[in-house]
Amino acid sequence: MRIGEKPLIAAAAVQQRVAELAEAVSRDYACKHAYGDGAEHPRGVGIVLVTVLKGGLPFAADLMRRLTIPVTLEFVRARSYKGVRSRGAVEFTHLPETSLAGKDVLLVEDILDTGVTAAAILDRLDAERPASLHLCTLLDKPARRQVDVRPRYVGFQIDNHFVVGYGLDYNEAYRELPDVYILHQD
Ligand code: IMP
Ligand code: MG
Repeated sequence: MRIGEKPLIAAAAVQQRVAELAEAVSRDYACKHAYGDGAEHPRGVGIVLVTVLKGGLPFAADLMRRLTIPVTLEFVRARSYKGVRSRGAVEFTHLPETSLAGKDVLLVEDILDTGVTAAAILDRLDAERPASLHLCTLLDKPARRQVDVRPRYVGFQIDNHFVVGYGLDYNEAYRELPDVYILHQD
């Protein structure tokens, strides 16, 4: 097992793309900044960024600091079972601690692969009746899709490689790397 000598996506390119996504998100949700809500939300209501742990952490941290609209933070952690009978079943080990009802919610993911995990998380969040619910993923492997999930924001579409770095792991390793690398099996 080894990572490539050169990154698939270098840190500078990641940061450049995150800045572009932040600009798009800030523009699309600009009206959410317009109305203040007194002492409770002095900057306005803004949007709820729901980060998928653990892999979405670096992406969400960089994205939020480039947004020009206010945000509040929530987190989800999901485990998917790929066994024969429970194929596609997703268990939640952490869910948002505040109600999402009536809020503008943006789910932040590291990578969209088969789509099973993101679809289950979106279903679960949607049950809380948010005002809007969209998906923002840093990486997208469209060739692998099994479930119809359509992200509103995509950082990079990539071919069917297993990648690590910038939050993405192999057995919990490599998450801290600032670049994204292909993991080779030899
Ligand atoms: P899905 O349910 O098949 O879309 O899988 C989503 C999850 O699988 C992601 O949130 C990652 O945790 C993991 N995953 C999928 N592809 C990769 C990869 O290339 N590198 C690291 N983790 C991956
Ligand atoms: Mg993961």
